[in-house]
Amino acid sequence: MRPAEFCVHKPGLILKGVIFMAVRIVIGAQWGDEAKAKVVDYLAKEADIVVRFGGGANAGHTVVVNGEKFVFHLVPAGIVHPDKVCVIGNGTVIDPAALLSEMEELKSRGISFEGRLFISQNAHLVMPYHKLLDRVEEAVRSEDAEGGGRIGTTGRGIGPCYRDKINRTTGIRIVDLLDREILREKLLQNIREKNQLLTKLYDHDKMDEEKIIEEYLAFDKQIDPFVKDASVYLNDAIDAGKSVLFEGAQGTLLDVDHGTYPYVTSSNTTAGGACTGTGVGPTKIDEVIGVAKAYTTRVGYGPFPTELTDDLGERIRKIAQEFGATTGRSRRCGWFDALVVRFSARVNGLSSLAVTRLDVLDTLDHLQICTAYRYQGKVLQHFPSDVRILEQCEPIYETLEGWKAPTTRIRRLQDLPDNARRYLDRISALAKTPISLISVGPDREETILVDG
Ligand code: GDP
Ligand code: IMO
Ligand code: MG
Repeated sequence: MRPAEFCVHKPGLILKGVIFMAVRIVIGAQWGDEAKAKVVDYLAKEADIVVRFGGGANAGHTVVVNGEKFVFHLVPAGIVHPDKVCVIGNGTVIDPAALLSEMEELKSRGISFEGRLFISQNAHLVMPYHKLLDRVEEAVRSEDAEGGGRIGTTGRGIGPCYRDKINRTTGIRIVDLLDREILREKLLQNIREKNQLLTKLYDHDKMDEEKIIEEYLAFDKQIDPFVKDASVYLNDAIDAGKSVLFEGAQGTLLDVDHGTYPYVTSSNTTAGGACTGTGVGPTKIDEVIGVAKAYTTRVGYGPFPTELTDDLGERIRKIAQEFGATTGRSRRCGWFDALVVRFSARVNGLSSLAVTRLDVLDTLDHLQICTAYRYQGKVLQHFPSDVRILEQCEPIYETLEGWKAPTTRIRRLQDLPDNARRYLDRISALAKTPISLISVGPDREETILVDG
């Protein structure tokens, strides 16, 4: 690795093999599932607090510690470290039933939450009608309509919940859950309105308003002990010199503003979302780490220029076990797309990259990296923001030789095969971002920290 030669941003705070105390954002630099949680878990060793700032139970975050696997949806991955505090910020959308059942499962595996989990009072609640509408709306969308067809959502009610939040009069927040009168009133108004939609527009059965109200009125006592003004808590912690790690969900290309709209999620998954989603200002952030797989995957519909629809794509899916951690769906697989990651470096202001799943490529003879797109006879160097242009882009590839050797046991950069280092150097140069961390296996220990 030659960080100094192409480092256009300030160097990362991971230097000489040491992770410095800092306020750090970890985000996905592709279409999600980049192994953000693996990186968060690794970096959490040096953090005091781990914070989720966006998305909801659409996320599936996997951590493997000494062979034991944990999959998180709403609870920040930092909870596996017994001495860390975890926060779920205001930018998230919380399904209380899903959160409580995730916590129950984790408790049965020895994880304690007492004084270790805080939830912002301003986070919005995912209600049963959000989940139902998510599925009903997705079912009526056409599979092949151009630019407005099926999205392939996770069915967790994310879009309908964020829609109610932005709508202002319909959103229900954690703080409302703690006030029985307000909760009843808001639920009644919402369920009646949604029942109109369900019956009149979608020809679907009505929802039972009393059943939902009764179920949700009962959550207050269970959620109350965790509720906090998360912005005050986090800013006080930062001022006191604590190290905070923001755990991104989804990926940059799924961001509602910057991603491949409309094939995106409904939140800001990019680094700015960590600030708006927690109430921590941008001047408090020291470092932004973008996590990128050594190749690319995507779940759901939407353009994916480097997708491999042939046997090789199938082979990568099998080697990598590319099946969604939330829905179990097959992930679409393809070559590393440098335009995607360069785009992520720009919109997130990345300090460095964490390149994951390098070991997945260990057996391949040749590797391709997309360095530009061909669009209507022209060569594009930048990722186009218009999805209709992206749909017509053909990748231009550079071919590199594979290393054909196992990398999972390697712990130092200099011990990687030469061709693996060449591949990483090329990724870094094309993305115009230095690499600070390389992941060579799912386990916490299967990690190479790159000296700055
Ligand atoms: P996230 O949503 O970004 O946290 O990623 P997911 O948990 O959805 O998917 C990443 C998958 O890759 C999980 O199954 C991880 O256990 C696995 N994983 C993480 N790092 C590596 C790696 O370096 N090599 C391999 N082979 N698997 C990895
Ligand atoms: P993590 O945090 C990968 C995708 C869905 C769909 C689109 C919209 O594990 O990386 P939604 O349910 O959010 O309305 O779906 O976004 N998607 C993800 N893809 N990883 C995720 O999370 C995702 N969360 C949502 O597949 O295409
Ligand atoms: Mg995931």
